[in-house]
Amino acid sequence: MAEEHLKRGWRVIASVRSASALDELSSTYRDQLELITLDTTDWPAIDALAKSLDGRRIDLLLVNAGISGPTTLPIGEVDPDVFSSVIMTNALAPLRIIDRLADLVPSKGTIAVMSSDLGSISRNTVATWEAYRMSKAALNMGLRSLSIRRRAEGRTYLALCPGWVRTDMGGPHAHLSIEESIPRLTDVIAARTGAKGISYVNYQGQDVAW
Ligand SMILES: NC(=O)c1ccc[n+]([C@@H]2O[C@H](COP(=O)([O-])OP(=O)(O)OC[C@H]3O[C@@H](n4cnc5c(N)ncnc54)[C@H](OP(=O)(O)O)[C@@H]3O)[C@@H](O)[C@H]2O)c1
Repeated sequence: MAEEHLKRGWRVIASVRSASALDELSSTYRDQLELITLDTTDWPAIDALAKSLDGRRIDLLLVNAGISGPTTLPIGEVDPDVFSSVIMTNALAPLRIIDRLADLVPSKGTIAVMSSDLGSISRNTVATWEAYRMSKAALNMGLRSLSIRRRAEGRTYLALCPGWVRTDMGGPHAHLSIEESIPRLTDVIAARTGAKGISYVNYQGQDVAW
């Protein structure tokens, strides 16, 4: 997502957990890319980041980081500490980051999270990825609450579904390459910008049932 926006001429502030993760982009887009280090579940670091960005304008705030947790275990078998880390990473962390940085996003700007089709309650017909599904449903619900609480401030809120993508998480059998998903998802974000309120939308621009 960072690379796609850089290609389109955006100035990007990208956070990574390990400093080397976006080094290559950093050398190609020296003038457009600002790299910062953040573990999204480091709560004091989120507050420090908000402080360091004070006064900046962020037209698009996107939180992407997520983990899968156990994908085949029934929920009753999932280690409680593992479940905590899934829900902390996938739901609380993005919402906390958004809460702390939302004031930097102008009323015509966009706040987005990388949700998933698996976060849809009404479309769930398969009992796999149970902890992950719960965390993404929680993320959607939290973003919806946040968008309602801040309704008077404007902004577009998007819970994005990138499709099943061949990343470390998606695995080698996923339907889409990054190149097939991410430019389309970026087009969807651009097309939805300015639409007030919240949408749960996929990389094809279709609204997803909550
Ligand atoms: N792939 C799919 O099919 C698919 C489908 C729907 C939704 N999604 C969502 O898309 C997002 C990206 O997933 P992906 O497929 O690219 O997965 P991935 O290949 O496993 O990458 C996950 C990324 O999140 C980062 N991350 C995880 N925990 C973090 C933390 N506490 N602090 C900072 N960074 C952290 C990882 O950083 P490190 O490199 O440091 O580990 C990594 O860069 C996730 O939210 C995922 O749920 C993916």
